[in-house]
Amino acid sequence: MRLSAGASLAALASLALAACGGASEPAAAPAGAPVAEVAAPETAAIPAAAPAAAEPSLEFAHLPEPYRSASYAAGVRTWKLCQSCHLTKEGAGNLVGPNLHGVFGRQVASAPGFDYSPALKVETFTWTPEQLDHWLQNPSTFVRGNRMSFAGVRKEGDRTAVIAYLMAETGYEAPPAE
Ligand code: HEC
Repeated sequence: MRLSAGASLAALASLALAACGGASEPAAAPAGAPVAEVAAPETAAIPAAAPAAAEPSLEFAHLPEPYRSASYAAGVRTWKLCQSCHLTKEGAGNLVGPNLHGVFGRQVASAPGFDYSPALKVETFTWTPEQLDHWLQNPSTFVRGNRMSFAGVRKEGDRTAVIAYLMAETGYEAPPAE
């Protein structure tokens, strides 16, 4: 009993020493370090492989972020909401909505031959991906009185994706010319 009491005291003393050494000196670290060093390369190999899955699609690879990383599949899917009213090919003409070819860098309400609402005609801004993001969040409040009867794209990821899709489809160039 006395022996064990003595042993306990010795153990406590060495624990206290170890604790002090570990807290204040890097010399205590090597005891745990080899384990971490062995484990590190293995765990590092997993995240290194992961980004491959998040690589930008070929269609969006030339776009600036966040459009570059958007999902092409989500862009195609979300564009289906717009395609009954908008064409994107140059010279393809207007539907219920104006042709959107070259819309980025273009003054609002300036597609040739489209009869815009008075509300949109008095606007003077130039379309950028950011402006379109606001427009699509809520078309009815972005420019009050406009005639685009569309509820908007509520999910941010889908909005970014459809904007990226439109950028890729309509020949977006950064910085926009004209
Ligand atoms: C129900 C038909 C309809 C749908 C669906 C629709 N739009 Fe429109 N869009 C219009 C109309 C009409 C206008 C013109 C509004 C005006 O003159 O006030 C317009 C205008 C626009 C403009 C402004 C163009 C310019 O020349 O200034 C953009 C950009 C646009 N729409 C993008 C989209 C996108 C992207 C979607 C899908 C997410 C979409 N629209 C869905 C009918 C539609």
